[in-house]
Amino acid sequence: MRKLIWAAASIAALALTGTASAQSPIIIKFSHVVATDTPKGKASEKFKELAEKYTGGKVKIEVYPNSTLYKDKEELEALQLGSVQMLAPSNSKFGPLGIREFEVFDLPYILPDLKTLRKVTEGPLGARLLKLLEPKGITGLAYWDNGFKQMSANRKLVAPADYQGVKFRIQSSRVLQAQFKALGSLPQVMAFSEVYQALQTGVVDGQENTWSNIYTQKMHEVQKYITETNHGYIGYVVIVNKKFWDDLPADIREQLSKAMKEATDFNNAQSQKENDDALAEIKKSGKSEIIKLTAEQDAAMRKAMEPVYKDAASRVGQPLIDEFQKEAK
Ligand code: LMR
Repeated sequence: MRKLIWAAASIAALALTGTASAQSPIIIKFSHVVATDTPKGKASEKFKELAEKYTGGKVKIEVYPNSTLYKDKEELEALQLGSVQMLAPSNSKFGPLGIREFEVFDLPYILPDLKTLRKVTEGPLGARLLKLLEPKGITGLAYWDNGFKQMSANRKLVAPADYQGVKFRIQSSRVLQAQFKALGSLPQVMAFSEVYQALQTGVVDGQENTWSNIYTQKMHEVQKYITETNHGYIGYVVIVNKKFWDDLPADIREQLSKAMKEATDFNNAQSQKENDDALAEIKKSGKSEIIKLTAEQDAAMRKAMEPVYKDAASRVGQPLIDEFQKEAK
């Protein structure tokens, strides 16, 4: 008899747990490395708001900004293992996964403006690049802009010769490595979360980043000069663990896709302003001197970085670079 009661109680407990878990929301952990007050930070919060609204609370998005959960390399491993479901790494960070094609976005001066970029990300090449992620257990959902990069250092960077021997922090991209080698600098791959301290302690002398990243990480407080080069682009690929995504109920996936589409439009409409505002704040702080290049100085920088294209072609293939440039026309 006692056994029977015990069994009944266990069944009741099981039923209860079943009901509780049927009601508990699906959790999506969305990890990223930048501050909340940046294009990506704001867009991930927008996605959270819309995703929770469209799924009627069936999905809960937990956003972890500023590398609080994982740093650059770790977050990609965590996504593949399923410890986190969603990320938005920059195009420059897929190399360690064995996918070098996204590095085409890193080529110096390949994009004259953000409007041009959109032609690539919204065109057939953008879609094909996302497909490269699938064999790695990753689904690419969207491209989010940040903006154009500037060069910062504790020395004045005007002519290509000024870059000689300067130690630069770079993201994990071979194109960025080649770019600094072409300038005679010493590139060093480092996680984003470590850049401020590395600049402060002199582990590296300089770095390249967008105004919003420079400002929100306070890099301008530990760099005497920032040269307005706009030489390269930082943008993101929003990605999810493929198995997690495929296993979602179809209606939930549809609602999340709608939220992602709207968060993407939101991001791409505000990223330019975020960077303009950050530049204004850096100027106002008076902490670093902002250097503008003349047309001749700009031309000299472009020329010095030309060899990077040949170097990249040997790794990602000339046809990919040609296609990118054709779509970006
Ligand atoms: C960097 O590492 O410099 C950037 O990719 C950080 C980011 O996510 O914008």
